[in-house]
Amino acid sequence: MNASKRTPVIAGNWKMNLLPAGAKALVEELIPLTKDAKCKVVLCVPYIDLPTVLAAASGTNLKIGAQNCHWAASGAFTGEVSAAMLKDIGVEYVIVGHSERRSLFGDTSETVAQRARAALDAGLTVILCVGEVLQERRQNITLEVVRQQTKIALADVSAEELRRVIIAYEPVWAIGTGLTATAEQANEVNRAIRDLLAELYSQDIAESVIIQYGGSMNAANAAELLAQPDVDGGLIGGASLKAADFAAIVRAG
Ligand code: 13P
Repeated sequence: MNASKRTPVIAGNWKMNLLPAGAKALVEELIPLTKDAKCKVVLCVPYIDLPTVLAAASGTNLKIGAQNCHWAASGAFTGEVSAAMLKDIGVEYVIVGHSERRSLFGDTSETVAQRARAALDAGLTVILCVGEVLQERRQNITLEVVRQQTKIALADVSAEELRRVIIAYEPVWAIGTGLTATAEQANEVNRAIRDLLAELYSQDIAESVIIQYGGSMNAANAAELLAQPDVDGGLIGGASLKAADFAAIVRAG
């Protein structure tokens, strides 16, 4: 992490966990543990928990995000939630392109780009997830895959809008598996993403973008990952559901 240019962002992705009562309890536990954080702290929670979590976190340094949004502003899209709806209730962040959305729910780099577009139009900050599957890493095409996912998702994003984009490099083989990319592997891919941003925008802009690592980040391995020059934070799944573990990662951020 290059501290002179970027403030790290530690984000929890609660995935499909916690009913509103449990969500409120976790936020209340986190508030005293994270109130002196030097990094930004974001909680990306299930839609149903958003009103409760927004109320519980009101007046604190905790920022709240959703885990997906639809690309249309409104319309006949049964079961979907628009970026404008999220913005209206006070949500500031939204994850797009998580590998679980890509592998289980049919998201492609093109639909991810549309979701990012809608989120930016609504005034949200996007956490754009990219990452290779194990076979792609074994075939030594990780950097190509991640570059392509990033390039397609950002095709329609201006330099000005990129200030509201965080990129999360999440190797799919490291998600929920207990396997973590080594600090060097994480930094190599994050650096390649930053180099791509320099090609697409400018070196200065590339140096200002937050690029996180995600995939089995926990209290024990966070400090080493976050010490890498191009790892500017984390997107944390399992460990974000335990207040003490998440707070330890925030302290390392
Ligand atoms: P885990 O931290 O549980 O591996 O999940 C990572 C992730 O998918 C965050 O978006």
